[in-house]
Formats: sequence, C-alpha cells, structure tokens
Amino acid sequence: MKALVVYESLYGNTAAIGEVIATSLRTHGLEVDAGPISKVSPTSAVGVDLLVVGGPTHAHGMSKSSTRKTAVDDKKNSFPEPTVEPGLREWLTGLPPVPTRVACYEVLSLAAVVATLVGVRRHRPDLALPWYLLAAARAVNVAGT
Ligand SMILES: Cc1cc2nc3c(=O)[nH]c(=O)nc-3n(C[C@H](O)[C@H](O)[C@H](O)COP(=O)(O)O)c2cc1C
Repeated sequence: MKALVVYESLYGNTAAIGEVIATSLRTHGLEVDAGPISKVSPTSAVGVDLLVVGGPTHAHGMSKSSTRKTAVDDKKNSFPEPTVEPGLREWLTGLPPVPTRVACYEVLSLAAVVATLVGVRRHRPDLALPWYLLAAARAVNVAGT
C-alpha cells in the first residue's frame, strides 16, 4: 500500500508532524513518500492509496501569501525551509482525482492554551477567571478550527 504525506510549514511544526506520520506509516508496512508541497508535485498523488495533507492554521483558516509572509519575516523564525509559494491552497487546486482515503491534519495552537493555564498556576494572579475564560475561548477556537 502506498502513501504520500505532504505538508506546508512555516515554522517547522507541521513538517515535523508530517515526518512523524510518515515514519509511523512506514513502521506499519506502508510504502511512503513525504515532503513539503514546494518539493512534491500534486501529480505525485496519482496512484497512492492514502494521501495525508497537513498545514498550519493562519487567521482561522488556510494560509495566504500575506500570512506566510508574516511568518517568513518573523525574525524569531529559524526554520530553514518555510513554505513560501505555492501555499497548500494553491497546491490542492492542482491535485488530480484523489485516492479513496484522504487524511487532513492541522497544527493548532494548543500551546497557547497550555501556556495560559501554566501561567495562571505559576503566577497565581488575583483575578484568575479572565485568564481561564481566555484559555477556554482559545481552546474552543482551536477545536473549531
Ligand atoms: C499569520 C499567522 C496567523 C495565525 N493564525 C492562527 C489562527 O487563526 N489560529 C491558530 O490556532 N493559530 C494561528 N497561527 C499559529 C499557527 O497555526 C502556528 O504558528 C502553527 O503551529 C505553525 O505551524 P508551522 O510550524 O508548521 O508553520 C497563526 C500563525 C501565523 C504566522
């Protein structure tokens, strides 16, 4: 059984997850090709049994040129191979008729929720409720996205 794992990644997290998924599929006996969408043509999906596509959440949806630029211009971003063009949105439009099983994953900012909860426990602010509400709202947003 053949699988193709592709991902768009600006900071490296989705790439790391994609590679972990690829490794895991290989340990389960699948023949797997994996890589960033900048290096894998949509036509590579022809003939695969399983296509796994991953991308980050940007502004409550898939990335755009402008949001990718924000991430690329981020001076704190040290990921050496950010996906600039095409984005996943554009890559998907070039996809030929797809296999029967398509798995999508999204990297979500659950870290912000965890960081808020840890921060409240560590710093014990006088008013903790607003922070919990903020974390809850963020968690709902992540789940919904
Ligand atoms: C311009 C921009 C907009 C973002 N918007 C959202 C968002 O709406 N919701 C969210 O949960 N995370 C958002 N994020 C955080 C990304 O989802 C997070 O950085 C992601 O884990 C990065 O994946 P990557 O390392 O593969 O690029 C945004 C990040 C950027 C740079």
